[in-house]
Amino acid sequence: MEAIRIQGGVPLYGEITIGGAKNAALPLMVAGILSDEPLILTNMPELADIDTMVNLLRQHGVQIDQSVGKVSNNLSDAGATGRTMTLAGGNITNVTAPYDLVRRMRASILVLGPLLARKGEAKVSLPGGCAIGTRPVDLHLKALESLGARIALKEGYIQASAPHGLKGANIVFPKVSVGATENLLMAAALADGVTVLENAAREPEITNIAECLNAMGAQITGLGTGTLRIKGVKSLNGARVAVIPDRIETGTYAIAAAITRGRIVLKGTRYDLLESVLDAMRQIGVIIEATDDGFTVSAENGLLGIDVMTEPFPGFPTDMQAQWMALMATATGAAMITETIFENRFMHVPELTRFGVDVNVHGASAIIRGVEKLSGAPVMATDLRASSSLVLAGLAAVGETFVNRVYHLDRGYERLEEKLGACGARIERLSGA
Ligand code: UD1
Repeated sequence: MEAIRIQGGVPLYGEITIGGAKNAALPLMVAGILSDEPLILTNMPELADIDTMVNLLRQHGVQIDQSVGKVSNNLSDAGATGRTMTLAGGNITNVTAPYDLVRRMRASILVLGPLLARKGEAKVSLPGGCAIGTRPVDLHLKALESLGARIALKEGYIQASAPHGLKGANIVFPKVSVGATENLLMAAALADGVTVLENAAREPEITNIAECLNAMGAQITGLGTGTLRIKGVKSLNGARVAVIPDRIETGTYAIAAAITRGRIVLKGTRYDLLESVLDAMRQIGVIIEATDDGFTVSAENGLLGIDVMTEPFPGFPTDMQAQWMALMATATGAAMITETIFENRFMHVPELTRFGVDVNVHGASAIIRGVEKLSGAPVMATDLRASSSLVLAGLAAVGETFVNRVYHLDRGYERLEEKLGACGARIERLSGA
Protein backbone atom coordinates (compact mmCIF):
# COMPACT_ATOMS: atom_id res chain seq x y z
CA MET A 1 0.00 0.00 0.00
CA GLU A 2 1.28 3.49 -0.81
CA ALA A 3 2.41 5.91 1.90
CA ILE A 4 3.60 9.50 2.00
CA ARG A 5 6.87 10.33 3.73
CA ILE A 6 7.43 13.85 5.01
CA GLN A 7 10.56 15.32 6.57
CA GLY A 8 8.88 18.18 8.38
CA GLY A 9 9.81 21.41 10.11
CA VAL A 10 10.54 23.34 6.89
CA PRO A 11 8.73 26.66 6.22
CA LEU A 12 7.09 26.52 2.78
CA TYR A 13 7.74 29.25 0.21
CA GLY A 14 6.33 29.25 -3.31
CA GLU A 15 3.24 29.23 -5.51
CA ILE A 16 0.41 26.74 -5.79
CA THR A 17 -2.25 26.75 -8.50
CA ILE A 18 -5.61 25.58 -7.20
CA GLY A 19 -7.60 23.07 -9.25
CA GLY A 20 -11.31 22.86 -9.98
CA ALA A 21 -13.56 21.95 -7.04
CA LYS A 22 -14.24 18.23 -6.63
CA ASN A 23 -17.57 18.92 -4.96
CA ALA A 24 -18.69 21.14 -7.85
CA ALA A 25 -17.31 18.91 -10.61
CA LEU A 26 -19.19 15.82 -9.40
CA PRO A 27 -22.74 17.27 -9.59
CA LEU A 28 -21.84 19.14 -12.80
CA MET A 29 -20.89 15.82 -14.39
CA VAL A 30 -24.19 14.30 -13.24
CA ALA A 31 -25.99 17.12 -15.05
CA GLY A 32 -24.68 15.42 -18.21
CA ILE A 33 -27.54 12.92 -17.76
CA LEU A 34 -30.07 15.72 -18.30
CA SER A 35 -29.41 16.61 -21.93
CA ASP A 36 -28.89 14.92 -25.29
CA GLU A 37 -26.59 17.76 -26.28
CA PRO A 38 -22.97 18.05 -25.11
CA LEU A 39 -22.25 19.58 -21.72
CA ILE A 40 -18.67 20.83 -21.78
CA LEU A 41 -16.99 21.24 -18.38
CA THR A 42 -13.68 23.10 -18.13
CA ASN A 43 -11.21 23.39 -15.22
CA MET A 44 -11.95 19.79 -14.23
CA PRO A 45 -9.69 18.43 -11.48
CA GLU A 46 -7.81 15.16 -11.86
CA LEU A 47 -8.95 13.06 -8.93
CA ALA A 48 -9.91 9.50 -8.09
CA ASP A 49 -13.50 10.57 -7.30
CA ILE A 50 -13.84 12.09 -10.77
CA ASP A 51 -12.70 8.78 -12.30
CA THR A 52 -15.29 6.94 -10.19
CA MET A 53 -18.01 9.30 -11.45
CA VAL A 54 -16.85 8.77 -15.06
CA ASN A 55 -17.25 5.00 -14.55
CA LEU A 56 -20.67 5.40 -12.96
CA LEU A 57 -22.03 7.72 -15.66
CA ARG A 58 -20.57 5.64 -18.50
CA GLN A 59 -22.33 2.51 -17.26
CA HIS A 60 -25.60 4.51 -17.31
CA GLY A 61 -24.89 5.26 -20.98
CA VAL A 62 -23.56 8.83 -20.74
CA GLN A 63 -20.95 9.50 -23.42
CA ILE A 64 -17.82 11.09 -21.98
CA ASP A 65 -14.75 12.51 -23.70
CA GLN A 66 -11.84 13.98 -21.78
CA SER A 67 -8.97 16.15 -22.91
CA VAL A 68 -6.08 17.59 -20.96
CA GLY A 69 -4.42 20.98 -21.16
CA LYS A 70 -5.02 24.66 -21.46
CA VAL A 71 -8.57 25.43 -22.49
CA SER A 72 -10.04 28.06 -24.79
CA ASN A 73 -9.54 31.78 -24.52
CA ASN A 74 -13.11 32.14 -23.29
CA LEU A 75 -12.95 34.81 -20.54
CA SER A 76 -14.83 32.72 -17.97
CA ASP A 77 -12.14 30.06 -18.35
CA ALA A 78 -9.22 32.48 -17.94
CA GLY A 79 -6.27 30.78 -16.36
CA ALA A 80 -7.95 27.40 -16.26
CA THR A 81 -5.51 24.59 -16.97
CA GLY A 82 -7.41 21.49 -15.88
CA ARG A 83 -9.02 18.87 -18.04
CA THR A 84 -11.98 19.57 -20.24
CA MET A 85 -14.73 16.98 -20.17
CA THR A 86 -17.63 16.63 -22.57
CA LEU A 87 -20.68 14.65 -21.53
CA ALA A 88 -23.84 13.78 -23.44
CA GLY A 89 -26.86 11.94 -22.10
CA GLY A 90 -28.67 11.11 -25.33
CA ASN A 91 -28.42 7.38 -24.85
CA ILE A 92 -29.17 6.48 -21.22
CA THR A 93 -29.51 2.72 -21.37
CA ASN A 94 -29.22 1.68 -17.74
CA VAL A 95 -30.90 3.29 -14.72
CA THR A 96 -29.10 1.24 -12.05
CA ALA A 97 -26.24 2.66 -9.96
CA PRO A 98 -24.61 -0.49 -8.57
CA TYR A 99 -23.39 -1.07 -5.03
CA ASP A 100 -19.78 -1.49 -6.09
CA LEU A 101 -19.54 2.09 -7.43
CA VAL A 102 -21.85 3.81 -4.93
CA ARG A 103 -20.01 2.39 -1.90
CA ARG A 104 -16.80 4.01 -3.16
CA MET A 105 -18.32 7.47 -3.40
CA ARG A 106 -21.43 8.78 -1.68
CA ALA A 107 -21.92 11.50 -4.29
CA SER A 108 -23.20 8.70 -6.57
CA ILE A 109 -26.60 9.32 -4.94
CA LEU A 110 -26.79 12.46 -7.12
CA VAL A 111 -27.80 10.40 -10.15
CA LEU A 112 -31.13 9.53 -8.50
CA GLY A 113 -33.01 12.77 -9.27
CA PRO A 114 -31.67 13.23 -12.83
CA LEU A 115 -32.40 9.58 -13.81
CA LEU A 116 -35.93 9.88 -12.43
CA ALA A 117 -36.49 13.13 -14.28
CA ARG A 118 -35.22 11.79 -17.60
CA LYS A 119 -36.15 8.12 -17.56
CA GLY A 120 -39.00 7.97 -15.04
CA GLU A 121 -37.14 5.37 -12.98
CA ALA A 122 -33.90 4.78 -11.11
CA LYS A 123 -32.36 2.11 -8.95
CA VAL A 124 -29.50 3.38 -6.79
CA SER A 125 -27.63 1.42 -4.15
CA LEU A 126 -27.99 2.85 -0.64
CA PRO A 127 -24.66 4.52 0.16
CA GLY A 128 -24.50 2.82 3.57
CA GLY A 129 -22.39 3.85 6.56
CA CYS A 130 -19.43 6.12 6.35
CA ALA A 131 -16.38 6.85 8.47
CA ILE A 132 -17.65 10.32 9.42
CA GLY A 133 -21.13 9.39 10.61
CA THR A 134 -24.27 7.65 9.50
CA ARG A 135 -24.97 10.17 6.68
CA PRO A 136 -28.51 9.13 5.72
CA VAL A 137 -30.22 10.05 2.43
CA ASP A 138 -33.72 10.55 3.86
CA LEU A 139 -33.82 14.24 2.82
CA HIS A 140 -33.15 13.33 -0.82
CA LEU A 141 -35.87 10.65 -0.78
CA LYS A 142 -38.58 12.67 1.00
CA ALA A 143 -38.07 15.63 -1.28
CA LEU A 144 -38.23 13.49 -4.43
CA GLU A 145 -41.44 11.92 -3.08
CA SER A 146 -42.85 15.46 -2.80
CA LEU A 147 -42.23 15.78 -6.55
CA GLY A 148 -44.36 12.65 -7.07
CA ALA A 149 -41.71 9.93 -7.07
CA ARG A 150 -42.61 6.53 -5.61
CA ILE A 151 -39.75 5.16 -3.58
CA ALA A 152 -39.16 1.73 -2.06
CA LEU A 153 -36.07 0.34 -0.33
CA LYS A 154 -35.38 -3.21 -1.48
CA GLU A 155 -32.33 -5.44 -1.14
CA GLY A 156 -30.03 -2.52 -0.35
CA TYR A 157 -31.29 -0.44 -3.26
CA ILE A 158 -33.43 2.68 -3.55
CA GLN A 159 -36.00 1.81 -6.20
CA ALA A 160 -37.67 4.93 -7.50
CA SER A 161 -40.20 5.54 -10.21
CA ALA A 162 -42.26 8.42 -11.53
CA PRO A 163 -44.69 6.80 -13.96
CA HIS A 164 -46.54 10.08 -14.51
CA GLY A 165 -43.43 12.28 -14.48
CA LEU A 166 -42.24 14.62 -11.72
CA LYS A 167 -44.44 17.56 -10.67
CA GLY A 168 -43.22 20.81 -9.12
CA ALA A 169 -43.80 21.22 -5.37
CA ASN A 170 -42.91 23.37 -2.37
CA ILE A 171 -40.21 21.69 -0.33
CA VAL A 172 -38.91 22.90 3.02
CA PHE A 173 -35.76 21.00 3.96
CA PRO A 174 -35.74 20.32 7.73
CA LYS A 175 -31.92 20.43 7.61
CA VAL A 176 -29.49 22.04 5.18
CA SER A 177 -28.11 19.39 2.83
CA VAL A 178 -25.74 20.08 -0.03
CA GLY A 179 -26.42 16.78 -1.80
CA ALA A 180 -30.21 16.89 -1.39
CA THR A 181 -30.31 20.46 -2.72
CA GLU A 182 -28.31 19.39 -5.79
CA ASN A 183 -30.39 16.28 -6.42
CA LEU A 184 -33.61 18.29 -6.25
CA LEU A 185 -32.31 21.15 -8.40
CA MET A 186 -31.54 18.69 -11.19
CA ALA A 187 -34.81 16.76 -10.85
CA ALA A 188 -36.95 19.91 -10.63
CA ALA A 189 -35.28 21.45 -13.69
CA LEU A 190 -37.18 18.91 -15.83
CA ALA A 191 -40.30 18.56 -13.64
CA ASP A 192 -43.69 19.81 -14.71
CA GLY A 193 -44.41 23.17 -13.00
CA VAL A 194 -42.70 25.22 -10.32
CA THR A 195 -40.62 23.84 -7.44
CA VAL A 196 -39.52 25.96 -4.51
CA LEU A 197 -36.70 24.67 -2.30
CA GLU A 198 -36.60 26.34 1.11
CA ASN A 199 -33.72 26.05 3.57
CA ALA A 200 -31.63 25.04 0.54
CA ALA A 201 -27.84 24.83 0.85
CA ARG A 202 -26.01 28.01 -0.24
CA GLU A 203 -22.56 26.52 -0.86
CA PRO A 204 -20.71 28.00 -3.89
CA GLU A 205 -20.90 24.55 -5.50
CA ILE A 206 -24.71 24.86 -5.49
CA THR A 207 -24.48 28.16 -7.33
CA ASN A 208 -22.08 26.57 -9.84
CA ILE A 209 -24.57 23.78 -10.66
CA ALA A 210 -27.55 26.17 -10.71
CA GLU A 211 -25.68 28.46 -13.15
CA CYS A 212 -24.80 25.42 -15.25
CA LEU A 213 -28.44 24.31 -15.37
CA ASN A 214 -29.51 27.84 -16.35
CA ALA A 215 -26.89 27.84 -19.11
CA MET A 216 -28.55 24.59 -20.28
CA GLY A 217 -31.91 26.35 -20.45
CA ALA A 218 -33.28 25.76 -16.94
CA GLN A 219 -35.17 28.52 -15.15
CA ILE A 220 -33.75 28.79 -11.66
CA THR A 221 -33.82 31.94 -9.54
CA GLY A 222 -32.64 32.75 -6.01
CA LEU A 223 -29.06 31.63 -6.67
CA GLY A 224 -26.86 32.07 -3.60
CA THR A 225 -29.86 32.30 -1.26
CA GLY A 226 -31.62 29.72 0.91
CA THR A 227 -34.71 29.76 -1.34
CA LEU A 228 -34.37 28.42 -4.87
CA ARG A 229 -37.26 28.63 -7.33
CA ILE A 230 -37.17 26.29 -10.30
CA LYS A 231 -39.63 26.54 -13.17
CA GLY A 232 -39.47 23.20 -14.94
CA VAL A 233 -38.75 23.01 -18.66
CA LYS A 234 -39.43 20.21 -21.18
CA SER A 235 -35.80 19.63 -22.13
CA LEU A 236 -32.32 21.03 -21.55
CA ASN A 237 -29.68 21.89 -24.12
CA GLY A 238 -25.89 21.70 -24.10
CA ALA A 239 -23.64 24.32 -22.48
CA ARG A 240 -20.04 25.17 -21.65
CA VAL A 241 -19.35 25.74 -17.95
CA ALA A 242 -16.18 26.28 -15.87
CA VAL A 243 -15.82 24.42 -12.56
CA ILE A 244 -15.19 26.89 -9.71
CA PRO A 245 -11.86 26.72 -7.80
CA ASP A 246 -11.68 24.17 -4.98
CA ARG A 247 -12.19 26.10 -1.76
CA ILE A 248 -11.11 23.18 0.43
CA GLU A 249 -7.88 22.66 -1.52
CA THR A 250 -7.35 26.42 -1.23
CA GLY A 251 -7.90 26.37 2.53
CA THR A 252 -5.68 23.33 3.01
CA TYR A 253 -2.72 25.00 1.27
CA ALA A 254 -3.42 28.29 3.06
CA ILE A 255 -3.00 26.32 6.29
CA ALA A 256 0.16 24.67 4.90
CA ALA A 257 1.69 28.15 4.62
CA ALA A 258 0.53 29.16 8.11
CA ILE A 259 1.37 25.94 9.93
CA THR A 260 4.96 25.95 8.60
CA ARG A 261 5.24 29.73 9.18
CA GLY A 262 6.06 30.20 5.51
CA ARG A 263 4.56 32.15 2.60
CA ILE A 264 2.55 30.67 -0.28
CA VAL A 265 0.96 32.44 -3.24
CA LEU A 266 -2.33 30.70 -4.05
CA LYS A 267 -3.29 31.15 -7.69
CA GLY A 268 -6.51 30.49 -9.59
CA THR A 269 -8.73 30.83 -6.54
CA ARG A 270 -11.02 33.30 -4.76
CA TYR A 271 -11.18 34.78 -1.26
CA ASP A 272 -14.98 34.88 -1.22
CA LEU A 273 -15.18 31.08 -1.53
CA LEU A 274 -13.84 30.64 1.99
CA GLU A 275 -14.15 33.91 3.81
CA SER A 276 -15.01 32.23 7.11
CA VAL A 277 -11.71 30.32 7.16
CA LEU A 278 -9.57 33.20 5.90
CA ASP A 279 -11.16 35.65 8.33
CA ALA A 280 -10.41 33.23 11.17
CA MET A 281 -6.82 32.95 9.92
CA ARG A 282 -6.48 36.72 9.97
CA GLN A 283 -7.85 36.79 13.52
CA ILE A 284 -5.15 34.43 14.74
CA GLY A 285 -2.40 36.53 13.15
CA VAL A 286 -1.94 35.08 9.65
CA ILE A 287 -1.31 37.68 6.93
CA ILE A 288 -3.45 37.38 3.80
CA GLU A 289 -2.90 39.71 0.84
CA ALA A 290 -5.10 39.76 -2.27
CA THR A 291 -3.49 39.21 -5.69
CA ASP A 292 -4.96 39.35 -9.20
CA ASP A 293 -6.10 35.74 -9.26
CA GLY A 294 -5.99 34.64 -5.64
CA PHE A 295 -4.06 35.67 -2.53
CA THR A 296 -0.85 35.21 -0.60
CA VAL A 297 -0.76 33.62 2.84
CA SER A 298 2.13 34.16 5.24
CA ALA A 299 2.73 33.67 8.93
CA GLU A 300 5.39 33.94 11.59
CA ASN A 301 5.37 32.63 15.12
CA GLY A 302 2.90 34.14 17.57
CA LEU A 303 -0.35 32.74 16.14
CA LEU A 304 -3.12 32.77 18.74
CA GLY A 305 -5.71 30.01 19.30
CA ILE A 306 -9.40 30.93 18.76
CA ASP A 307 -12.70 29.05 18.84
CA VAL A 308 -14.58 28.04 15.68
CA MET A 309 -17.77 26.12 14.95
CA THR A 310 -18.58 24.34 11.70
CA GLU A 311 -21.77 25.43 9.94
CA PRO A 312 -23.35 25.31 6.48
CA PHE A 313 -21.98 27.94 4.05
CA PRO A 314 -21.15 30.79 4.62
CA GLY A 315 -20.07 29.39 8.00
CA PHE A 316 -16.83 27.57 8.73
CA PRO A 317 -16.81 24.43 6.51
CA THR A 318 -16.77 21.00 8.15
CA ASP A 319 -14.36 19.97 5.37
CA MET A 320 -11.74 22.36 6.88
CA GLN A 321 -12.23 21.28 10.49
CA ALA A 322 -9.48 18.65 10.67
CA GLN A 323 -6.91 20.91 8.98
CA TRP A 324 -7.83 23.75 11.35
CA MET A 325 -7.23 21.46 14.31
CA ALA A 326 -3.67 20.79 13.09
CA LEU A 327 -3.08 24.56 12.81
CA MET A 328 -4.48 25.22 16.29
CA ALA A 329 -2.03 22.66 17.68
CA THR A 330 0.78 25.06 16.73
CA ALA A 331 -0.89 28.25 18.04
CA THR A 332 -0.51 29.78 21.49
CA GLY A 333 -3.23 29.08 24.07
CA ALA A 334 -6.41 27.03 23.96
CA ALA A 335 -8.77 26.70 20.98
CA MET A 336 -12.16 25.03 20.79
CA ILE A 337 -13.60 23.44 17.67
CA THR A 338 -17.31 22.52 17.64
CA GLU A 339 -18.50 20.21 14.87
CA THR A 340 -22.19 20.70 14.10
CA ILE A 341 -22.52 19.01 10.67
CA PHE A 342 -21.33 15.43 11.16
CA GLU A 343 -21.60 13.52 14.43
CA ASN A 344 -18.43 11.48 14.15
CA ARG A 345 -15.94 13.77 12.55
CA PHE A 346 -13.08 13.65 15.04
CA MET A 347 -11.50 10.50 13.58
CA HIS A 348 -8.26 12.43 13.09
CA VAL A 349 -7.89 13.17 16.82
CA PRO A 350 -6.19 9.91 17.89
CA GLU A 351 -3.85 10.17 14.90
CA LEU A 352 -3.01 13.84 15.59
CA THR A 353 -2.08 13.00 19.19
CA ARG A 354 0.72 10.87 17.73
CA PHE A 355 2.43 14.12 16.68
CA GLY A 356 2.17 15.37 20.28
CA VAL A 357 -0.99 17.41 19.70
CA ASP A 358 -2.74 18.14 23.03
CA VAL A 359 -6.46 17.64 22.33
CA ASN A 360 -9.49 16.60 24.37
CA VAL A 361 -12.86 15.79 22.87
CA HIS A 362 -16.11 16.44 24.77
CA GLY A 363 -19.10 15.43 22.67
CA ALA A 364 -19.20 17.62 19.58
CA SER A 365 -16.36 19.87 20.77
CA ALA A 366 -12.61 19.48 20.91
CA ILE A 367 -10.23 21.60 22.96
CA ILE A 368 -6.75 21.97 21.58
CA ARG A 369 -3.90 23.44 23.60
CA GLY A 370 -1.04 24.64 21.45
CA VAL A 371 2.35 22.99 21.99
CA GLU A 372 5.90 24.26 21.46
CA LYS A 373 6.66 21.74 18.72
CA LEU A 374 5.12 18.74 17.01
CA SER A 375 7.20 15.65 16.29
CA GLY A 376 6.94 13.42 13.23
CA ALA A 377 5.21 10.03 13.56
CA PRO A 378 3.77 7.15 11.53
CA VAL A 379 0.02 7.78 11.16
CA MET A 380 -2.99 6.34 9.37
CA ALA A 381 -5.39 8.33 7.17
CA THR A 382 -9.05 7.65 8.01
CA ASP A 383 -10.98 9.85 5.59
CA LEU A 384 -10.27 12.48 2.99
CA ARG A 385 -10.00 15.68 5.05
CA ALA A 386 -8.59 13.88 8.10
CA SER A 387 -5.76 12.73 5.83
CA SER A 388 -4.86 16.26 4.86
CA SER A 389 -4.69 17.29 8.53
CA LEU A 390 -2.08 14.57 9.03
CA VAL A 391 -0.05 15.85 6.08
CA LEU A 392 -0.25 19.40 7.50
CA ALA A 393 0.85 18.25 10.96
CA GLY A 394 3.66 16.28 9.31
CA LEU A 395 4.83 19.39 7.42
CA ALA A 396 5.04 21.32 10.70
CA ALA A 397 6.50 18.51 12.81
CA VAL A 398 10.18 18.05 13.41
CA GLY A 399 11.41 14.71 12.07
CA GLU A 400 9.93 12.07 9.84
CA THR A 401 6.22 11.34 9.26
CA PHE A 402 4.68 8.46 7.34
CA VAL A 403 1.03 8.88 6.31
CA ASN A 404 -0.43 5.50 5.44
CA ARG A 405 -3.60 4.76 3.42
CA VAL A 406 -3.05 7.69 1.06
CA TYR A 407 -5.81 6.59 -1.29
CA HIS A 408 -8.08 8.82 0.79
CA LEU A 409 -5.97 11.84 -0.22
CA ASP A 410 -6.08 10.93 -3.89
CA ARG A 411 -9.87 11.20 -3.81
CA GLY A 412 -9.69 14.94 -3.25
CA TYR A 413 -6.18 16.41 -3.74
CA GLU A 414 -4.59 16.36 -7.18
CA ARG A 415 -0.79 16.05 -7.32
CA LEU A 416 -0.47 16.88 -3.62
CA GLU A 417 3.23 15.97 -3.27
CA GLU A 418 4.09 17.89 -6.45
CA LYS A 419 2.26 21.05 -5.33
CA LEU A 420 3.76 21.01 -1.82
CA GLY A 421 7.17 19.89 -3.11
CA ALA A 422 7.30 22.96 -5.38
CA CYS A 423 7.14 25.08 -2.20
CA GLY A 424 10.09 23.29 -0.63
CA ALA A 425 8.28 20.56 1.29
CA ARG A 426 10.34 17.40 1.65
CA ILE A 427 7.53 15.05 0.72
CA GLU A 428 7.49 11.88 -1.37
CA ARG A 429 5.24 8.97 -2.15
CA LEU A 430 6.49 5.51 -1.32
CA SER A 431 4.90 2.58 -3.07
CA GLY A 432 4.38 -0.78 -1.46
CA ALA A 433 5.23 0.46 2.05
C1 UD1 B 1 -21.33 17.48 0.92
C2 UD1 B 1 -19.87 17.42 0.53
C3 UD1 B 1 -19.01 17.09 1.73
C4 UD1 B 1 -19.30 18.05 2.86
C5 UD1 B 1 -20.79 18.13 3.16
C6 UD1 B 1 -21.14 19.21 4.19
C7 UD1 B 1 -19.98 16.70 -1.78
C8 UD1 B 1 -19.71 15.63 -2.77
N1 UD1 B 1 -19.70 16.41 -0.50
O1 UD1 B 1 -21.69 16.16 1.37
O2 UD1 B 1 -17.65 17.17 1.35
O3 UD1 B 1 -18.63 17.61 4.04
O4 UD1 B 1 -21.52 18.43 1.95
O5 UD1 B 1 -20.68 20.44 3.78
O6 UD1 B 1 -20.38 17.79 -2.13
N2 UD1 B 1 -28.22 14.54 6.08
C9 UD1 B 1 -29.35 13.88 6.49
N3 UD1 B 1 -30.17 13.34 5.54
C10 UD1 B 1 -29.91 13.43 4.21
C11 UD1 B 1 -28.76 14.13 3.78
C12 UD1 B 1 -27.92 14.68 4.75
O7 UD1 B 1 -29.61 13.78 7.69
O8 UD1 B 1 -30.69 12.91 3.40
C13 UD1 B 1 -27.32 15.15 7.08
C14 UD1 B 1 -25.90 14.57 7.03
O9 UD1 B 1 -25.81 13.37 7.76
C15 UD1 B 1 -25.12 15.69 7.65
C16 UD1 B 1 -25.84 16.96 7.13
O10 UD1 B 1 -27.15 16.51 6.76
O11 UD1 B 1 -25.22 15.66 9.04
C17 UD1 B 1 -25.20 17.64 5.94
O12 UD1 B 1 -24.95 16.69 4.92
P1 UD1 B 1 -24.94 17.06 3.38
O13 UD1 B 1 -24.87 18.54 3.25
O14 UD1 B 1 -26.05 16.35 2.71
O15 UD1 B 1 -23.56 16.43 2.91
P2 UD1 B 1 -23.23 15.76 1.53
O16 UD1 B 1 -24.02 16.40 0.44
O17 UD1 B 1 -23.26 14.28 1.67
